[in-house]
Amino acid sequence: MTITLKKSLYRYEFSRGLALLDKRFFKPMPKLKVALIFGGKSTEHQISVLSATSILEKIDKQKYDLRLVKIDIKGNWFLLPGLDITEASTHPITLIPGTNGANILNTSTGQVLDEIDVAFPVLHGVFGEDGTIQGLFKMVNVAFVGCGVFASSACMDKDYTKRILRDADIAIAPYVTLTRADQMTFEEVDRKLGAPLFIKPASLGSSVGVKKVNNKEEFDIALREGFEFDVKVIVEPNIEGREIECAVLGNEHPKGSLPGEIVTQSEFYSFESKYVDKDDAAIQIPVDLPDDQIKLIRETAVRAYQALGCEGLARVDFFLTSDGAAMINEINTIPGFTNISMYPKMWEATGIGYTELLDHLIELGLERYQKEQGLKTVSPESL
Ligand SMILES: Nc1ncnc2c1ncn2[C@@H]1O[C@H](COP(=O)(O)OP(=O)(O)O)[C@@H](O)[C@H]1O
Ligand SMILES: [Mg+2]
Repeated sequence: MTITLKKSLYRYEFSRGLALLDKRFFKPMPKLKVALIFGGKSTEHQISVLSATSILEKIDKQKYDLRLVKIDIKGNWFLLPGLDITEASTHPITLIPGTNGANILNTSTGQVLDEIDVAFPVLHGVFGEDGTIQGLFKMVNVAFVGCGVFASSACMDKDYTKRILRDADIAIAPYVTLTRADQMTFEEVDRKLGAPLFIKPASLGSSVGVKKVNNKEEFDIALREGFEFDVKVIVEPNIEGREIECAVLGNEHPKGSLPGEIVTQSEFYSFESKYVDKDDAAIQIPVDLPDDQIKLIRETAVRAYQALGCEGLARVDFFLTSDGAAMINEINTIPGFTNISMYPKMWEATGIGYTELLDHLIELGLERYQKEQGLKTVSPESL
């Protein structure tokens, strides 16, 4: 499968061509400056470091002039001196608007250290995948990789994801939303949904705080723990089904990859099976399913992506029940990106290798930025 994208990267390719033709007469255009932003304040800080390490290893360094920006667990930003992710930095920074992108400002000296063309957030979870940093990118007027503010926020919150999917007539698991102020007892939820139940903090990832409960005692403990992580918790019945995932890529004309499957030995795909017990979960790409079900998954993933206004990338996760229904569980807008992660692996199986995938993502970020720059803004004088 091939994905055709507009070639706004062409000027960089073109300049490299010219440079090869005759270095004496043509001054090559500077390479696109891309800042990989990783780490972050979320529970998925370490996963982000792993994703960024893989991206750094595989990204085409001939094409991009890279900067590494690390956000520590407290939320402080640092510009690393070189391209070693493990290196410490003493440059506390922030981004401010520049002339053609964003400037990297040293917050202790007030000095502008550099300028970047594209921000590439490799941050999972809150403050990275939830629209907050995307809002900052928009405020400083820099192109960035991945979903915009709204889609990031909507996909981060499992309650709002479901509301939008339901409105688009896309199947979801039944659920109730609980807040500290608005709770239900085990008996009430059991009557409505039927135990065993899944309890999940609405805006977390990596299965942190996700619990399967069978009775009132387990329910109360899981709920208490859930509220330690989030102000909103969702409860669903146990869905018996295969866990199928589909990688989606694109802006206005997104494409869905060949799907993959997660097969776990444990009761569910928990934090331990994701990251601790390496032998617990296996991934199967491409998935072993009849063509019509693969088609259904790919089409539903793209419909969901569009319903939520996603851009760039997202991984759409399904439960496929024994009666053939494809129910969306959740949508991740910055999915794991190590070289063994589902998102790049599914594209690899579909014909787009890891390095090329990164080119597409940067290209899509630039394409969206250029489109938005062309929008009219209304000033009071023109009213
Ligand atoms: N309603 C459910 N029925 C069965 N399994 C579930 C249900 N909800 C979650 N799970 C299991 O828990 C895992 C983590 O839940 P998920 O909603 O994907 O949260 P996270 O954002 O933390 O990945 C899923 O991959 C699945 O194995
Ligand atoms: Mg999940």
